[in-house]
Amino acid sequence: MPYRSVTVPAIACAMLAGVAFLPVGTSAAPLADRPLVIAHRGASNYLPEHTMEAYRLAVQMRADFIEPDLFLTADGVLVARHDRSLNATTNVQQVAASDPDLFAKGTQVGANRQYYVDTLTYADIQKLSATSRGGAAYSNPATSPYYDGTESFAVPTFYDVLDYVYDLYSTTGRIVGVYPEVKTVSGNAAYNLAIADAMLTALADPKYGGFFDGRFNNVFLQSFDQSIVQHLAANSDLPVVYLTSCPTAAAAADAIAQYAAGIGISTGQATQACIDRAHAAGLLVHAYTVSLANAALHDTLYARGVDGIFSNAPDLAVASRDALYPVPEPASLALLGLGVAGLLAARRRLA
Ligand code: G3P
Ligand code: CA
Repeated sequence: MPYRSVTVPAIACAMLAGVAFLPVGTSAAPLADRPLVIAHRGASNYLPEHTMEAYRLAVQMRADFIEPDLFLTADGVLVARHDRSLNATTNVQQVAASDPDLFAKGTQVGANRQYYVDTLTYADIQKLSATSRGGAAYSNPATSPYYDGTESFAVPTFYDVLDYVYDLYSTTGRIVGVYPEVKTVSGNAAYNLAIADAMLTALADPKYGGFFDGRFNNVFLQSFDQSIVQHLAANSDLPVVYLTSCPTAAAAADAIAQYAAGIGISTGQATQACIDRAHAAGLLVHAYTVSLANAALHDTLYARGVDGIFSNAPDLAVASRDALYPVPEPASLALLGLGVAGLLAARRRLA
């Protein structure tokens, strides 16, 4: 069923105040009141991806959602990693060099020894420190103002992420969304389904008191695997986003809308025609991935009416989104309230 956001009262107040919400010179608009900022792997342009530090920084930068990619360890713990292999984003090779038990769990692939999440236990993974994969789209301790490369970063579990978001809400009232992705291993459907089911079980854990059951519009589920998307849609009331290519015809968009709330498409696919076609089918459109390396795309994509952007630089994404879709300052709201009250009083005097 297509997902719709709740109406934001502040939006209506600002419209009364004459604040423009749609970008000047465009006809496109998101389906929701304001498009989302989704911190892709956390604030991953500034800190190593999928670490609690990267998620917390994204929240400080006012991201609406944080995005953990999920795999299951050999002993059934959901951890936040993008790659099945830990080689590119942890120091596993260095640790394994002096740890024969860990080394033995590696898989020789050509000249390289790969350490897969699903062949290691959570205890193994706790020995590791997360690192950046590097490149212009991801953090670099030589240029990031947020770390210098001497720190150690734990690989978080999905429960670490949920605990953090729930505690934030409990202590401050702020709602930050989670947007977990079921990662998959080719040819291992049972393992992939186990990730999906473990994810749903965690979100429904009674310790969260229903906080992640959808009532707060604070959860999206996602996968590139159509069968996983359909499994999630059949087994949950939460909105599911299908990571796919842009549907090329209205019928194709309508077919996806039978089970998904939206599509996640690459920035290159997010043309105006694609966005409009998906919107016509009632599908949300979330585009991935914008980073410091292509930051101008924040403006371009928000102006085209995407409903959300996965960004490695959530500070820039927030600035772009807020410039195009502003909300009134609290002081403006107070002045507006006074103005409306004065208007009503004047009308009563005139009557
Ligand atoms: O999930 C949206 C986006 O993250 C998909 O790309 O490869 O970074 O998971 P990837
Ligand atoms: Ca992802």
